[in-house]
Amino acid sequence: MHKTVLTGITTTGTPHLGNYVGAIRPAIKSSEARDASYYFFLADFHALIKCHDPKTINISSMEVASTWLAMGLDPDLVYFYRQSDIPEITELTWILTCVTAKGLMNRAHAYKAAVDENVEQKAKDPDKGVTMGLFSYPILMAADILLFGSTHVPVGKDQIQHIEMARDIAARFNHFFGESFCLPEAVVDEDTAVLRGLDGRKMSKSYGNIIPLFVPEKNLRKLIMKIKTNSLEPGEPKDYTDCTLFEIYSAFANKNEIETMKEKYKSGISWGEAKQTLFEYLNEVLKKPREEYLRLMDSPDHVEHILKKGAEKTREKCIPFMDSIRTKTGYCKLGTHR
Ligand code: TRP
Repeated sequence: MHKTVLTGITTTGTPHLGNYVGAIRPAIKSSEARDASYYFFLADFHALIKCHDPKTINISSMEVASTWLAMGLDPDLVYFYRQSDIPEITELTWILTCVTAKGLMNRAHAYKAAVDENVEQKAKDPDKGVTMGLFSYPILMAADILLFGSTHVPVGKDQIQHIEMARDIAARFNHFFGESFCLPEAVVDEDTAVLRGLDGRKMSKSYGNIIPLFVPEKNLRKLIMKIKTNSLEPGEPKDYTDCTLFEIYSAFANKNEIETMKEKYKSGISWGEAKQTLFEYLNEVLKKPREEYLRLMDSPDHVEHILKKGAEKTREKCIPFMDSIRTKTGYCKLGTHR
């Protein structure tokens, strides 16, 4: 079977170091191997689940698209598109919704977490604040995946359940209407670094502890100086195995540089110096992409053009497949199903 790798990036908020190291960089790198078809898309309809501010919705897509391009994604090597430019995805979502058991959605982590929170807060209605978007979003995600015959879906651990649901939904459709969808597999790369943020917890927008990839130099320095360390004095040996600074440095530096840094920890580098070194290193790595990012952010028409071209190429692929799904379900020329 042809290998098809697909992953989506929800367009909420400004991309940070953790997003880059954990998702963007490995995706770009894998696409350079050219041994499969690659679909990387902005999951902008997923953003609407949590965000009802049109300006944020719009800017986030621009930021995420510019980040991928500034970090070296070659849109000619892959299918790079914005979900909302592909109407076939939402069309398939409805068809899949009609074969998905409600009970399956009841078990989705995101929905269950919202209900648990309501119960804990002693809300009258356990579904308080839960939209149908939040409830059924694994179906939208299944459509994202199944429409392109994805075989491999690189995701974080928190998303594994959604890939399993996509398999369930695909199998059910296949059972009713005949073999149509390929069952996708989640790919969770244990070697990919998961970075911690300013406070030592996993870097995440929801913890407010992120270091955005493309903040101006001054702010980057300020943020790095804020990273939590311990109270060991200069000269005292430090443990690099449990240190956010070292972790971030290692995610960018090469083997030799990492070894040198380990030695410095052992011989008692001061936290101030470790932070300064990390800042200088990161700033150097990010300087060029940052300039490119700012150029892109300043040229919305150019980015729009790239996305539109990507959508055209993507639709050429999925329209014939969607037609076959329509035919299988009876949505085709009258008289065809007798
Ligand atoms: N829900 C995913 C996340 O929050 C993003 C996403 C949307 C996705 N559609 C997808 C990931 C399809 C992989 C495949 O990370």
